[in-house]
Amino acid sequence: MKNKSDGKEKVSSNTMNQQHNSHPTSHDKKMSLIYSGFIGECAEIKEVFQTIEKVADTDSTVLITGESGTGKELTARAIHENSSRRNNPMVVLNCGAIPSELLESELFGHEKGAFTGAHQPRIGRFEMADGGTIFLDEIGDMSPGLQVKLLRVLQEQCFERVGSVKTIHVNIRIISATNKNLKKAIHEGAFREDLYYRLNVIPINMPSLHKRKSDIPLLINHFLEKRQANSNKSADTKKTFSKRAMETLINYNWPGNIRELENLIERLSILVDEDTIRYKDLPEKMKEKATTRQNIPESIMERNWPGFNQAVDQFQKNLILQALNQTNWIKAKAASLLKMNRTTLVEKIKKMDLESMENHVDREFTSNHKYFSIDELDISHLLHTEKSTISIMK
Ligand SMILES: Nc1ncnc2c1ncn2[C@@H]1O[C@H](COP(=O)(O)OP(=O)(O)O)[C@@H](O)[C@H]1O
Ligand SMILES: [Mg+2]
Repeated sequence: MKNKSDGKEKVSSNTMNQQHNSHPTSHDKKMSLIYSGFIGECAEIKEVFQTIEKVADTDSTVLITGESGTGKELTARAIHENSSRRNNPMVVLNCGAIPSELLESELFGHEKGAFTGAHQPRIGRFEMADGGTIFLDEIGDMSPGLQVKLLRVLQEQCFERVGSVKTIHVNIRIISATNKNLKKAIHEGAFREDLYYRLNVIPINMPSLHKRKSDIPLLINHFLEKRQANSNKSADTKKTFSKRAMETLINYNWPGNIRELENLIERLSILVDEDTIRYKDLPEKMKEKATTRQNIPESIMERNWPGFNQAVDQFQKNLILQALNQTNWIKAKAASLLKMNRTTLVEKIKKMDLESMENHVDREFTSNHKYFSIDELDISHLLHTEKSTISIMK
């Protein structure tokens, strides 16, 4: 838990406030869980919050799995900050970023002269973390030789510095993380099974962002607020997204997960001058995704497999909406894209009650645009107007 005096941001989601009010942790009834800037209200994240709450103040090892950028390190920090170790250090070590020859000395420290270049004795990360938590990121990249030594630390909480015979005892909590499939690595002989079970006492799996679409608007809002708070320009107002831009972001696949989203919000906040960020401002790869996606929405698949007729209806609806969005709801143009008769399209729009979706189109008018109301617009207007200068206004 962070103290007010540490000057760090203190944000907790509404869900979290409710949780800590109703379930105070057992070691200190007054202690409230603080998830600094940890945003999320979907079921999977609520489950993660609940696990954090239960395990934070134990010494059990935690293994956090999930794709890169899903919040594994943030989760480790939340565990540390909500434990009684919070006033001691949390030491982070990325096992994948350090060559394996150096990793041993990095973890355990070394004595002077232990190897060429060891001019001074140096304490390792385990000693630095004494009384606190060590977060071993990318644990799947650790060499088999070091895995054995780590297993000993886990079993006996002791080790020797490289080049020393003196045993050092420490009191540390170990949290590790990986985006690799460790079960597969065990099968392939690259990861020790005994170490896996030692590390994986409490497993936490971070969901990929495309599986928590309902959290995307919350995260966007959080990052916009963060940008505004960090902005040096006092005149900067908090930006907003147009409905169409927001929908595109919700439907994007996010291979880089929350890290990719955070970076995009930072980039758009700096580069877009207007207060509203629009579809046209988004990266091309996201727009392609939005216009070519013809899958049945995952939301339907997740709830239940649809019946055949429901799936076909949904597919038709998606296809028509995509054509309408791409043509700024000019039905004649959309009908031509869909290679169907305009009257048939209008009938389908009515039958599927799609008119209400029309607000999802950005209205980006420029001075040379000609405006038509939806009711006025028919094929004769299209024939007498240059295609590129038509917009729709209700
Ligand atoms: N639920 C969340 N709410 C707010 N920010 C998040 C959330 N999850 C991740 N982030 C932010 O996304 C970035 C990547 O998170 P990180 O914990 O480093 O991911 P990982 O370790 O899985 O690669 C960080 O800047 C982190 O603060
Ligand atoms: Mg990480």
